[in-house]
Amino acid sequence: MENQPKKLTTASGSPYFENENSMSVGQRGPLLLQDYILHEKMAHFNRERIPERVVHAKGSGAFGTFTVTHDITKYTRAKLFSEIGKQTRIFLRFSTVGGEKGSADTERDPRGFALKFYSEDGNWDLVGNNTPVFFLKDPKKFGDFIHTQKRDPYTNCKSATMMWDYWSLNPESLHQVLILMSDRGTPDGYRHMNGYGSHTFSLINADNERVWVKFHFKTAQGIKNFSNDEAVKMKGLDPDYAQRDLVTSIDKGDFPRWNMKIQVMTEEQAKTFKWNPFDLTKVWPHADFPLIDVGVIELNQNPDNYFADVEQSAFAPAHVVDGISYSPDRMLQGRLLSYPDAHRYRLGGNYEQIPVNRCPYAVNNYQRDGQMRVDGNGGRNPNYFPNSFDNIVADESYKQPSWELNDSLAGWYDRNAPGENDHYTQPGNLWRLMTPEQKINTVSNIVGAMSGIEGPKRDQIINLQLCHWFRADLSLGMAVAQGLGISMENLQGAMPQQHA
Ligand code: NDP
Ligand code: HEM
Repeated sequence: MENQPKKLTTASGSPYFENENSMSVGQRGPLLLQDYILHEKMAHFNRERIPERVVHAKGSGAFGTFTVTHDITKYTRAKLFSEIGKQTRIFLRFSTVGGEKGSADTERDPRGFALKFYSEDGNWDLVGNNTPVFFLKDPKKFGDFIHTQKRDPYTNCKSATMMWDYWSLNPESLHQVLILMSDRGTPDGYRHMNGYGSHTFSLINADNERVWVKFHFKTAQGIKNFSNDEAVKMKGLDPDYAQRDLVTSIDKGDFPRWNMKIQVMTEEQAKTFKWNPFDLTKVWPHADFPLIDVGVIELNQNPDNYFADVEQSAFAPAHVVDGISYSPDRMLQGRLLSYPDAHRYRLGGNYEQIPVNRCPYAVNNYQRDGQMRVDGNGGRNPNYFPNSFDNIVADESYKQPSWELNDSLAGWYDRNAPGENDHYTQPGNLWRLMTPEQKINTVSNIVGAMSGIEGPKRDQIINLQLCHWFRADLSLGMAVAQGLGISMENLQGAMPQQHA
């Protein structure tokens, strides 16, 4: 049957005899209005593009499995973790952040690491990055920050001036900027980098007890990065390097894997932690909160069609499942709202019915109608709740324990709380753990990037940013200043006063 020829048809299924010559008046005459097949082909082509993601537009994705290797049921009742050996199907989309859909894969940029677990209690989306922290700690700043990573409104070019102006005026970004400027800012494809849920989330167990949690995915392929020069060269040689690398390795049966681990903090520990445990610009040190093994994710199936599954995939931090929930992290709170809104704009109100986004298990509710409703729309069942007919119930066993918004938790909402404006200790810790070679590369990357700052505010921006590097670690500040050719005398005069 496979080799039997199939008839060419219109989108409505009507076979037709010819596909390359428009219907015309005689051999050399004009075209006929009645050539519906010509209209259909041109009209459909005109509608092939959907809006690209406003961030993370360039990406690659694959299906795979998550396998539980260790028991964490004392922390969570989420069914996907219920027993060792249990497997759950996943979809993982990697991405760069700032570039357009056609941009190069090896740009210096964080990488997206967006996971969808098709669990029997619904789809769980963990929409993380390859870094454990982020540039900001308040969602109100996100749009302004992203504008600095895109194109200048006048030149329509990327602008180092915009980037460093913003970063220098927002020292909370320093930790993420240092990671970005290290060689981890240019990973060798997607297989050789870690993934992080980044935010603090919560886990809830069968006794309805809550702990705070961070998710980590350590690459089993080992960390491998490009040097700045290699990354720049690769932009020209193969702008789709990471896409090609992923598809090829899965096609060869060389399935990439990541070891999933968690860090756990009790509600009591959160009250006395020296930093705000819900601050996305900070990590929880491993020595205080060791990594706990959970399982393995493996990518083992390329999507047959890129647009169908990768372009149309939609992830939302709001999509959690029973046993996993939110935290007071303000960035997470902002993202809960933003993503489904973006998907409704990009893919339509029924985006959750697109196969890659669809929950493969029961979905019962009273949402009806809307454009592209393709799932039968609830058939003849009641479209209102409560009703006396369909026996769909709200199950109280899914209720979560309430949050105690006591003084210590509320205290973390105070921008002046202790440690809240310490933007320097953790970047300093990262700098101090780098090897001499990593330090040399990082400083060279910073100097290269800051050398692009231009215009009348150049010196002011450089001085302010230098001040942040100095505060993280004296030797880091000195190395960057030297690299930029700034002498000690100029430096001392230029040092800005305390700011936060
Ligand atoms: P540890 O020495 O226990 O851990 C250091 C971590 O840094 C390791 O996870 C390592 O990842 C990672 N790392 C090494 N080089 C870089 C780099 N250039 N960019 C990003 N991550 C890197 O230290 P602490 O837990 O006390 O943390 C110290 C600093 O390490 C933090 O301030 C933070 O910048 C960084 N870090 C901490 C993480 C955490 O969750 N605690 C997670 C990631 C980074 P790997 O093991 O994969 O090589
Ligand atoms: C994509 C907003 C912070 C990771 C997106 C999209 C939006 C967005 C609108 C496009 C969604 C789409 O069209 O499908 C925001 C806002 C943030 C924020 C408002 C802060 C308030 C973060 C953080 C991370 C992150 C902190 C990681 C820790 C991602 C990833 C994608 C994405 C991985 C791509 C998902 C995919 O592959 O489809 N973000 N973002 N974002 N964001 Fe964020």
